[in-house]
Amino acid sequence: MEWGMKNRLSRLIQADGKALFLPIDHGYFQGPTHKLEKPGETIKPLLQYADALMLTRGVLRNCVDSAVDKPVILRVSGGTSVVGEDLANEAITTSVQEIIRLNASAVSMSVFVGSKYEHQSLTNLAKLVDACEDYGIPVMAVTAVGRELEKRTARYLALCCRIAAELGARVVKTYYCEENFEKVVDGCPVPVVMAGGPKVNSQLEVFKFVYDGMQKGAIGVNLGRNIWQTEHPVAAIRAIRAIIHDNYTPEEAQSLFEQVKAGKT
Ligand code: R5P
Repeated sequence: MEWGMKNRLSRLIQADGKALFLPIDHGYFQGPTHKLEKPGETIKPLLQYADALMLTRGVLRNCVDSAVDKPVILRVSGGTSVVGEDLANEAITTSVQEIIRLNASAVSMSVFVGSKYEHQSLTNLAKLVDACEDYGIPVMAVTAVGRELEKRTARYLALCCRIAAELGARVVKTYYCEENFEKVVDGCPVPVVMAGGPKVNSQLEVFKFVYDGMQKGAIGVNLGRNIWQTEHPVAAIRAIRAIIHDNYTPEEAQSLFEQVKAGKT
């Protein structure tokens, strides 16, 4: 592996081999998502606890201080919306020159395996990998399910992750699933990070799945709504960080969450 690629990956994946990526890219197809209406304000108290920030060029340029000392994972696929016909019909939206200009440490794009646009999104991934590898920029593939959240089974996610890795993704982001998640990770030759999905009812639920996914081989998370849409986002990110980097159990994470919430630490 070239020095530049290694260096960028080492900025994202920490020395312990783990990572907490904070995504705020949801507006690229959802518009002004709840609690992300002013992304710059949302991330202010959270950034210090994240290993990298995932977002589009528009939010990066307009809402994030250029002196920020955090690696950026630039979302470079899009072209669809929640009110449009099909979320899977994505294209690559950002040139390699722009990716370099914005000093991105990595890029990310979605693949929609099994959808009408499977071929298009997978060949988009292959082309993006070709273009980015020339400059030592890692591609993180996002195994997207559009509106069909019920697709999140181990069998399907394993298929998506493996295909994304085979096409050259350096990291794969996928969903956690309760049953057989280890099969998803074991079948994927590159590091896997977990998305959070829609906000769930209790923090403990999030801590449990992050912990379980880590035990089963994930290197971390790319988790947004279950942090910044919660009532106590700083407590949430600190507790999740403790699971990822300090091996906290869900119960220990819950206790840290309560302490931060109460202003005790
Ligand atoms: C989808 O909007 C994006 O790719 C998000 O980055 C991804 O879904 C992770 O965010 P969340 O934890 O909110 O699902």
